[in-house]
Amino acid sequence: MVAFPLVTVAFAIETVDLTKDYSVGFWRKRPRRALDRLSLQVERGEVFGFLGPNGAGKTTTLKLLLQLVFPTAGRAQLLGCPLGDPAAKRRLGYLPEQPYFYDYLSAEELMDYFGGLFGLGLSERRRRTNALLDEVGIGAERRLQLRKFSKGMLQRVGIAQALLNEPELVILDEPMSGLDPLGRRDVRGLILRLRDRGCTVFFSSHVLSDAETLCSKVAILAKGCLVASGRLSDMLALQVRGWELVVADTPDALVAALGTRATRVVRIGEGRFSLELPLGAPPERMVAELAAAGAKLVSLTPLHETLEDFFVQRVGEGT
Ligand SMILES: Nc1ncnc2c1ncn2[C@@H]1O[C@H](COP(=O)(O)OP(=O)(O)OP(=O)(O)O)[C@@H](O)[C@H]1O
Ligand SMILES: [Mg+2]
Repeated sequence: MVAFPLVTVAFAIETVDLTKDYSVGFWRKRPRRALDRLSLQVERGEVFGFLGPNGAGKTTTLKLLLQLVFPTAGRAQLLGCPLGDPAAKRRLGYLPEQPYFYDYLSAEELMDYFGGLFGLGLSERRRRTNALLDEVGIGAERRLQLRKFSKGMLQRVGIAQALLNEPELVILDEPMSGLDPLGRRDVRGLILRLRDRGCTVFFSSHVLSDAETLCSKVAILAKGCLVASGRLSDMLALQVRGWELVVADTPDALVAALGTRATRVVRIGEGRFSLELPLGAPPERMVAELAAAGAKLVSLTPLHETLEDFFVQRVGEGT
């Protein structure tokens, strides 16, 4: 039997060998493993990205944490309490993958209803409803019935309801899904504001750029198994593979020489070039030589793998 250590640091989320088999098949039921011994720790105050391709087991994990489904094996704790503890649930916010609301209510009425479930008084419900709907960008349409809302607007209402109880931990299943670029930017801003208030945000996504711009740590899941986890900066820093140098006003005499030094030369415009230097060729000398010949340095950027590359490579290895 798996047990938690006696002295536990109260992580916001901790799972130990969390496993879920679904029963599939009609006549002859057989188990299909959706999550395989997931051990994960999410520290308080972190924005943690839970990444993986379709079918990786992200929603299953989140549902296990919320006790919408129950584990085949393993354990988990939220805010230092075992799953299901009402004290922890009161401090938790949750956005399901496809939020479904009673759609004859308006956004305001829905928020008011959920506020009532949390035991909030009328004036506090109104205050929080207004503030949160403002924060997620739902304007005057908050008085419309939800059946008249677009997918993105419903997603915003879903995020607002997840925050109604001013949670310490928010679990968001694909919070950016269905949002346009402005909506994504708004939600990114909102997540960072939650972090600044000390809230822990655990969100699933397969959109890697969302994690790149938001997360201090990520875990990458593929086919139910954890394939990588850790600080994003560590993962990406390990993968620096060279330098990109952009120069302008490059004298003609120098242009031919560039190709012999750089692994890639792209002409952007008159006298303006993008050069890729290998990792073993630190750019300082090249910059000095170019400057001495009269070229101007526009930018110098370390080239590292994006999370996208990492994701494709690691998930590809697992297939
Ligand atoms: N109720 C269920 N019964 C049987 N199998 C299920 C059930 N729910 C999910 N699965 C299977 O479990 C696996 C993981 O599904 P899950 O929904 O957790 O993935 P996901 O990572 O959230 O994917 P997506 O990015 O598409 O949302 C999939 O193979 C899926 O078919
Ligand atoms: Mg999912």
